[in-house]
Amino acid sequence: MNKAPVIAIDGPSGSGKGTISSRVAESLGFSLLDSGALYRVLGIACDRDGIDLTDPQAVANLARGLDIQFGLSGEGSVWLDDEDVSLAIRTDLGSDMASKVGAIEAAREALFQRQLAFREAPGLVADGRDMGTTVFPDATLKIFLTASLEARAQRRYKQLIGKGIDAILPALLRDLKERDRRDSERTVSPLKPAEDAIVIDTTDLTIDQVVNQVLEHYPLA
Ligand code: DC
Repeated sequence: MNKAPVIAIDGPSGSGKGTISSRVAESLGFSLLDSGALYRVLGIACDRDGIDLTDPQAVANLARGLDIQFGLSGEGSVWLDDEDVSLAIRTDLGSDMASKVGAIEAAREALFQRQLAFREAPGLVADGRDMGTTVFPDATLKIFLTASLEARAQRRYKQLIGKGIDAILPALLRDLKERDRRDSERTVSPLKPAEDAIVIDTTDLTIDQVVNQVLEHYPLA
């Protein structure tokens, strides 16, 4: 069995998981798994193919056949078939569809093996909702990032405005709340810290501070 070390970094949207995970992976020379991107690609693929989300087998069949490629680590590009979908998966539609397909057990099962395949020497940083609880329960280090709803909505607002995209803070707050609810209340692999996870509240911390805290907890760093 492949026992390359894994650092699992889980948490809700806007907790800083993506940025922190990619910085930690870079600093240790590890690969990166952005599991949310898999759910996002599946979500937009369902939307494009008009798949009925009340039909779990149809969603799982699509998930099994998806040709998903990731660009170089740190670059963040994602490809579906021969199309660069890096931007499409980050839209509100991509976020909403990802959260919806993520609640379907058969879809999660279909994406499970793909995620395991990212585990390779010298190690992996796995970013998601259930990395420490379900996908890599034997991870060397499990981190659960949190931040207040307001701080998370503010971060998303700044991110969108920075990209020149119009955003309305109250609407962002409402959408985040709804996705938190859906991700936490689903019966299969809900968003929750593993029992042995270290919880870090990032509300008042800088990115550097969080990265340093994670690295301090990694025994081999
Ligand atoms: O991490 P993210 O915001 O890109 O994730 C988008 C959605 O995908 C999230 O709302 C729920 C789903 N997801 C999941 O169910 N399990 C994961 N491991 C990662 C993401």
